[in-house]
Amino acid sequence: MVMSKTIAIFLVSMIIVTYYIAFSAAQTPTSAAPVATPTSAAPVATPTGCPMVGHNCTGTTPCCSFFGTCGSGSVECGPGCIPEFSEFGACS
Ligand SMILES: *[C@@H]1O[C@H](CO)[C@@H](O)[C@H](O)[C@H]1NC(C)=O
Repeated sequence: MVMSKTIAIFLVSMIIVTYYIAFSAAQTPTSAAPVATPTSAAPVATPTGCPMVGHNCTGTTPCCSFFGTCGSGSVECGPGCIPEFSEFGACS
């Protein structure tokens, strides 16, 4: 019993020491890390039209729906419709 307790204390000590070494190394950088310098704003997604179909909606299915599909019903042209990808830039 005494032996196993000693081993347990030893193992816990080793774990603590290991964490201490790893933590110390991580906290003491030898030099300043290079700071990222973005030259421009976040990349804007290339417009590829209504998401699910890959093009803008036209013709008999002029509305790009909330789901990214084209159609002419109240679902496609209703709330959530994306005017940028719909015919004439409007959900109608
Ligand atoms: C869809 O329409 C938008 C807004 O007019 C335009 O920016 C985009 O290039 C068009 N996409 C396609 C695939 O024609």
